[in-house]
Amino acid sequence: MKNRIYAPHWDDYELIDAGNGLKLERWGKYITIRPDINAYFHPQLSKKEWELKANFIFKEQKGVFGTWINPKNLPVHWNIEFEGVTLNVFLNNTKHTGVFPEQNLNWKIIIESLNSEGNFLNLFGYTGASSMMALYKNADVIHVDSSKSALTWAKKNAHLNQFNGCKLVLEDAILFMEREVKRMHQYDLIQMDPPTWGIGTKGKKWQLENHIDVLMSLSAKLLKAEGKLIVTTYSNKIDPIILKETAEIYFPTRNHRTGMLATKTTTGKILDHGSILHIY
Ligand SMILES: C[S@@+](CC[C@H](N)C(=O)[O-])C[C@H]1O[C@@H](n2cnc3c(N)ncnc32)[C@H](O)[C@@H]1O
Repeated sequence: MKNRIYAPHWDDYELIDAGNGLKLERWGKYITIRPDINAYFHPQLSKKEWELKANFIFKEQKGVFGTWINPKNLPVHWNIEFEGVTLNVFLNNTKHTGVFPEQNLNWKIIIESLNSEGNFLNLFGYTGASSMMALYKNADVIHVDSSKSALTWAKKNAHLNQFNGCKLVLEDAILFMEREVKRMHQYDLIQMDPPTWGIGTKGKKWQLENHIDVLMSLSAKLLKAEGKLIVTTYSNKIDPIILKETAEIYFPTRNHRTGMLATKTTTGKILDHGSILHIY
């Protein structure tokens, strides 16, 4: 049986239903339909019920790109809140919205673990939802991402919340970690959500399975003795067993928990997202 760790819904986010390769989600007052490869099962509600509810429907065109059908011509960006932190939702030409809502499980840990004395390293930080949670707790935040547009978005989220002092670093995560090890910097909390595949800096091909070991060994050097590490992977090659084995190698004396990160739909379906590891 799969050991699942469930991400809960919150006021401004609900996974209403999933199935037929799609998910039906509510973000504040708006509802979207977008693809999800893990929703291979049958949905609970009918296609008609989905379409009656949805404000925006993503149609895949080429690779990861596509367009959002927006029959009522609604604004394509709006804000949602999580525990007092504002996050911008933005529909562009990919199915992504700028927020990975299942990460709210980790946001809670960030909020609970950090205070103004703490520091947080957010690797592969994307639009900065996790960084915003740490800034909310007045922690020192270093947010690393190799994409300029992700950093621009993170800056926008910080601005929306009137947070100052988020250090945004445009750099390859591994290069940055290596430099931080040389500088002998250490962190109270590190989070990483590395992509499964892609083109890294300098046009180099990125496959997560080729990098997970180095990411974990560098994290072990960058984490304070009592520090916490949060890792999520959305790759079917890096499953909870691999994460557990890697944790036992690089963090032999620390506690860890691993599992499948999943969300239960309001209609009772279970959608897996990927694997999760917490070192504490
Ligand atoms: C899956 S997203 C992270 C999602 C985010 N943690 C969240 O929960 O909202 C992956 C991010 O990694 C960035 N990225 C990809 N390769 C990278 C690399 N080699 N170094 C740093 N960032 C990288 C991408 O630009 C993207 O923003």
